Amino acid sequence: MFEHFDKPQELFEYKLGTALTMEHDSLNALRELEMASQSEEVRNLFAHHQGETKQQIANLEQAFQLLGVEPDQSPSPTTKGLMKEGAALVAKTDKSLVDSVTLSAALENEHYEIAAYQSLIISAEAMGATQVCDLLKQNLDQEMHTSEELNQAARMAAHAMPAA
Ligand SMILES: [Fe+2]
Ligand SMILES: [Fe+2]
Repeated sequence: MFEHFDKPQELFEYKLGTALTMEHDSLNALRELEMASQSEEVRNLFAHHQGETKQQIANLEQAFQLLGVEPDQSPSPTTKGLMKEGAALVAKTDKSLVDSVTLSAALENEHYEIAAYQSLIISAEAMGATQVCDLLKQNLDQEMHTSEELNQAARMAAHAMPAA
């Protein structure tokens, strides 16, 4: 990979690699969040998004192929930090409240993923990489949809919480 970026294409490939790492981290986080969650509905939500995340990884690998470069993972400290923060709070939280923690951890991760794809799409459009752009838009649509589902589930979990 590059040490110094002076071409948009290099920068884009590096950020695409960050997205690939982000998705691998998300897959790990979703597995952990699924295991920590108490309600079946919440666990199903996390399990479903794991399947989508595997497809997103395949889309990113295909994007690399279209660009004619080997898929490469760039550092993604943010997703590792979010996962660590979520796990630490899960460990400190009673089971009766833990779903609100897992859902908010996932929601934070989704928002990061959404921002990452929005930026990549802007660059891909500017470079005229139409097919790459379409793959990124597929991923973005899934993240937006998941974020909406998490939002609704988090609201339900918050209302179902025991009174203070
Ligand atoms: Fe994702
Ligand atoms: Fe996601």
